[in-house]
Amino acid sequence: MVVCKSWSELEKMHEAGLIVWSALEKMRTMVRPGITTKELDEFAEDYSAEHRARPAFKGYRGYPGSVCTSINQEIVHGIPSASRRVKEGDILSMDFGVELKGYFADAALTVGVGKTAPQREKLMRVTRESLEHAIEKVQPGNRLGDISAAVQDWVEQNGYSVVREFVGHGIGTKMHEDPQVPNYGVPGQGPRLQEGMVLAIEPMVNSGGPAVRVLDDDWTAVTADGSDSAHFEHTVAVTNKGPWILTRPREASGPVW
Ligand code: MF3
Ligand code: CO
Repeated sequence: MVVCKSWSELEKMHEAGLIVWSALEKMRTMVRPGITTKELDEFAEDYSAEHRARPAFKGYRGYPGSVCTSINQEIVHGIPSASRRVKEGDILSMDFGVELKGYFADAALTVGVGKTAPQREKLMRVTRESLEHAIEKVQPGNRLGDISAAVQDWVEQNGYSVVREFVGHGIGTKMHEDPQVPNYGVPGQGPRLQEGMVLAIEPMVNSGGPAVRVLDDDWTAVTADGSDSAHFEHTVAVTNKGPWILTRPREASGPVW
């Protein structure tokens, strides 16, 4: 069942979303060769506490971290570790969500560490652009398949593949609500988008094939072929004024990350 939110609920979700956004913006400035993923996790945990928010991932189905940190061939759900240092040229996905006053927000971005190879820059750019194309489809009356197809088309036109095993999701008073938001689909199909629906749209894009493997830690999803992967996410509300990106400031414009 898809739950639509009132305007005052969307404002609460935006409050949560701004905490997620500002934490991730700070974390992106902290990323440099030698930093451990644990340091980023600790920052996010402290930042949440300072803002009276709860890190939404911690304890979710036993997940041990406050953020997911996924490097290079890791797609999503990488577990922060004090022994994992990022190095020059790596690409790092940072995924973070909080609960504030009973409402959730969830977002992610992928950043290069120091100077990164052009192929990796392109993978990150195309993945971010696929999210931007998807967000443009967040309009009342459109269909969920319009969003999914926008991601898939842009990704495949650029020679990459979308992951099938993990999907975006509705979000609100729970981190995961209906509907599922796949990164592949057919325009004009699926449920109609209505005012007040809120979707966490999160393209996961592999530079090689789409297949996924989960490591022995039972969390870290990696590409089966060892190719690089990138991930971007925003929490977006359907409104009669167009898409409202709840995980960034209202006045923001330009690239979504
Ligand atoms: N953005 C991811 C999601 O929506 C993060 C969840 S990680 C988990 O599913 F550890 F909480 F599962
Ligand atoms: Co999510």
